[in-house]
Amino acid sequence: MATTIGIFDSGLGGLTAAAEFEKLFKNKKYIYFGDTARVPYGTKSADTICRYAFQDTKFLINKGASLIIVACGTVSANAMDKLNSKFDVPIIGVVEPAAKKAAEIASAGKGRVTVLGTAATVKSNAYERAIKKIDSSIEVLSVPCPMFVPLVENGYTHGEAAMLFAKEYLQPTVSFDADAVILGCTHYPHLSDVISQVLNGSTLVNSGKEAVVAASKLLGADFVSEGDAEYYVSDAPECFEHLARIFMKKDAVGKVNCIDIESF
Ligand code: DGL
Repeated sequence: MATTIGIFDSGLGGLTAAAEFEKLFKNKKYIYFGDTARVPYGTKSADTICRYAFQDTKFLINKGASLIIVACGTVSANAMDKLNSKFDVPIIGVVEPAAKKAAEIASAGKGRVTVLGTAATVKSNAYERAIKKIDSSIEVLSVPCPMFVPLVENGYTHGEAAMLFAKEYLQPTVSFDADAVILGCTHYPHLSDVISQVLNGSTLVNSGKEAVVAASKLLGADFVSEGDAEYYVSDAPECFEHLARIFMKKDAVGKVNCIDIESF
């Protein structure tokens, strides 16, 4: 039986997972939803994040998704248990897979991990809990980077504005000298170049990529899923389409459809 993969995020961040999905599973279909009408999620309460996550998941299941990748650190940190108890399909978040990867790196090094995430993700403590569950001796420093998401959503992934905020947020982490830095929000890999320039030396862990690797273990290599990727957003499809082409390094990403997510 065919497996249709659904991937969702508050906006453009989940494309960092979609890009990894395309690398790992050439020509396999996925359905992407970006909640562009309600981005950012990272400044919202846990209750609101859960409500949005239910609607996003329900929309993708209605579209035929039989496995969901929650390509959003904020939802993964605040709503995974509730999503898993509400829906029957397998749902894979970014927190556990990224924590596992970072813990492996830190356990073989100085035992230190930095987590960069949205305010709601850092407040949840989900990454720290997941890392300590694997190895309680690992020291974790978590830093909220609230301006990173609006920078990415507006296409400012390189240049002075991005560098200004990277320096502001990351300077305190330089002396912590972590072995691994989890890009705990899926928007952040779009800023990898500036982040690496400030954090010279630490290994960056791309949380969306690790979630796709975890999904691939569940799926196996030869699952059936044919057709072109489908993209849906809840507002301004043309802005999403423009930046998606740049971020995915493609001439075209296909039609981006606009839907009313509040009706799900
Ligand atoms: N890309 C998301 C995350 O991984 C959402 C960020 C936001 O909407 O604030 O946390």
